[in-house]
Amino acid sequence: MDKFVIEGGTPLHGTIPVSGSKNSALPALAAALLTADTVVLDRIPRVRDIRTMERLLVDIGSEIDAGENSERVILNTKKIVSPEAPYELVKTMRASSLVLGPLVARAGRARVSLPGGCAIGARPINFHLAGLEHLGAKISQEHGYIEAEAANGLKGAQVVFDRITVTGTEDILMAAVLAEGETVIENAAREPEVVDLAHLLRKMGAQIEGEGTSVIRVQGVSSLHGATHEIIADRIEAGTFVIAGAITGAELCITGCLPEHLTALIAKLAEAGATITQTNDTTLRVERRDGPLKPADMITEEYPGFPTDLQAQYMALMTQADGISIVTETIFENRFMHAQELMRMGANIRLDGRQAIIAGRSRLTGAGVIASDLRASASLVLAALVAKGETVIDRVYHIDRGYEKIEEKLSAAGAKITRAE
Ligand code: EPU
Repeated sequence: MDKFVIEGGTPLHGTIPVSGSKNSALPALAAALLTADTVVLDRIPRVRDIRTMERLLVDIGSEIDAGENSERVILNTKKIVSPEAPYELVKTMRASSLVLGPLVARAGRARVSLPGGCAIGARPINFHLAGLEHLGAKISQEHGYIEAEAANGLKGAQVVFDRITVTGTEDILMAAVLAEGETVIENAAREPEVVDLAHLLRKMGAQIEGEGTSVIRVQGVSSLHGATHEIIADRIEAGTFVIAGAITGAELCITGCLPEHLTALIAKLAEAGATITQTNDTTLRVERRDGPLKPADMITEEYPGFPTDLQAQYMALMTQADGISIVTETIFENRFMHAQELMRMGANIRLDGRQAIIAGRSRLTGAGVIASDLRASASLVLAALVAKGETVIDRVYHIDRGYEKIEEKLSAAGAKITRAE
């Protein structure tokens, strides 16, 4: 298993480019199942979760042309050979459930393993299933698998989510585009990744209105065709690098990003005393800062609120603010695994249910720490950049799931970070 060895305290400078969005690329790849034509996707990040999704699609029957270092992935699914997502893949990547909607819509049935537990919370898929039932699928469960069937096709309906769900909205959207008649998805997720998926589906011939709002209307069509689509920039990767600039006080340019997707983060960082300037449509510059950071409470929310996927990184930042801040996690019930590891590095954090109370500023020192999930790992990398001495982060396969070559990108900006076996 790989580790990262990070020597803290070296100043960052320069430019860090942002890759395509993992959480946009995953549903886009699944959407290719909806047509027998060729779908070409550009700016696909070469991260582990993408390779897992590609393996799953090949098992299902897709032919995929994806070079190891190419950001272009060409998919063709002439025939669904096996409409199934096995436990072996679903347990390593919960987003595998994104094939559920497309498979029922195209093949009339799907068999998808239930995901089971997860490092950040229970994360069931009951809302995906309730949505599919509304569209007329028959759902049953046996041997740890969900079976969904709609032999005569899906029928448009009103689907009201009890709670906002990102991949749930994407799953139902992909099912609805081939359902007969109109589907109205209410309390839909407004995340940029949902909007990007709607743009791809529209290029494939789908009729969709309202993406980016909480009501999405879909007029089903009988078939979709091929399309070429470029995935949007990864706002979470961009946000992680913005926080890297803020935590080290360095002037750092983040290029190839979409600043309009980072409004909540930029506002929060301004409150904390960091200045982020938009220099053009796709570049953010973190301004050099000599003074201390200020504490600023933060609550995670669905988009356009502060993303839960940047909560761990923000907590690392707050360990360096002068005073007490409270971070409240409202999306997942168990997403504070990084706090214990940050404490091993010298942070002063008290956990109380869904809140973390952080007393700064802490003098962090390098330590051996373990990455527990993707974003937790990113927060440990950020803390290590300002810790005194050497930090060794174990189990970096978590970070490889969603960050493309993070050690190369940070090294190029001056960080002392190496990968070791
Ligand atoms: N939920 C249910 N039932 C469902 C679906 C969701 O109870 O059927 C609950 C979840 O347990 C959670 C909340 O609703 O408490 C919201 O979960 P959501 O469904 O929105 O999360 P997701 O779609 O599984 C996506 C991202 C996550 C990100 C969340 C929240 C992808 C592939 N994953 O997950 O990304 O944290 O939305 O924004 O898009 C990551 O990239 O590190 C990551 C975990």
